[in-house]
Amino acid sequence: MEEYYWDTQLKYLKRTRDLYYNDDYLDFLVKSVWKISKPVHMIDFGCGFGYLGLKLLPLLPKGSKYTGIDKGQQLIHKAKEYFSKLPYETEFFVEDTHEIELESKYDIAVCHAFLLHISEPKKMLQRMVNAIANDGKIICFEPHWISGMSSYKLEGYKQSQIVPLGILQKLFEESTGIDGNVGAKIPNYLAELGVKNIECRVSDKVNFLHPDQQKQEKQKLFDSLKAEGIGGEPRKKDQFIESLIKRGVTLKEAQEQFEAELLFSQVFNLDSSLIYAPSMKITFGEINN
Ligand SMILES: C[S@@+](CC[C@H](N)C(=O)[O-])C[C@H]1O[C@@H](n2cnc3c(N)ncnc32)[C@H](O)[C@@H]1O
Repeated sequence: MEEYYWDTQLKYLKRTRDLYYNDDYLDFLVKSVWKISKPVHMIDFGCGFGYLGLKLLPLLPKGSKYTGIDKGQQLIHKAKEYFSKLPYETEFFVEDTHEIELESKYDIAVCHAFLLHISEPKKMLQRMVNAIANDGKIICFEPHWISGMSSYKLEGYKQSQIVPLGILQKLFEESTGIDGNVGAKIPNYLAELGVKNIECRVSDKVNFLHPDQQKQEKQKLFDSLKAEGIGGEPRKKDQFIESLIKRGVTLKEAQEQFEAELLFSQVFNLDSSLIYAPSMKITFGEINN
């Protein structure tokens, strides 16, 4: 049987998560923005290897609990392994979030880079809302690709040479089953679902790769950026152009996009000077029925 895709992506997930938030920003969100002062039971939809639990549990009041759900058996296996060495109460389910029956008993429902992979994110948000007890919170950390794409600077090149935004804007608006701009849609979805006190923030981390950086630190950041797909080599020219045209862009735009990605892949290396901010959107609100 073919292995479940996300079970093969542990290395990618582990390498890239550090690009998004500084720990002090997460601490600020937990203590000063969400003002969580009592132990909470948090449920993570599409938890992967438990990234959000690993980040947030140390910041939450002592006695807080974490439940993770993911379809990936291997990912859940890893999550259990990581948490077995930590002093937190956790439980994990290998389940499809479309199907799992949950009671409304959780204080907080969270997700990270999950809704972009869900074909009907508003329906999934409703399932998340249904799992939350009265006076609880929903918190979604999701991407807004076009915003991330505008947050590049590679020293020595014009941004438009390596990341032409116009075509990307069109491509991200086309439905491919993955909505990388979902982060900017969640505030409205939550409003439509009756969630109260909705706010949206942006991830704080701006990654800075530069030639004078300490060698190990530089290599680690470079590897994370490459795993994120930055400066990745485009597919074979013909296939690349054909697939973009199928997604509704002109031949000229497809050719220009190919040239831009090729140039980026050729000039981006360990000694580049690059600024990159993923610009994730963090949307949160309260449930009071
Ligand atoms: C990009 S990964 C993010 C994982 C984790 N939240 C993180 O940020 O490291 C998306 C995750 O959503 C999970 N997922 C997608 N659709 C799912 C579904 N219907 N039920 C359960 N998990 C799902 C995948 O298995 C995968 O682990």
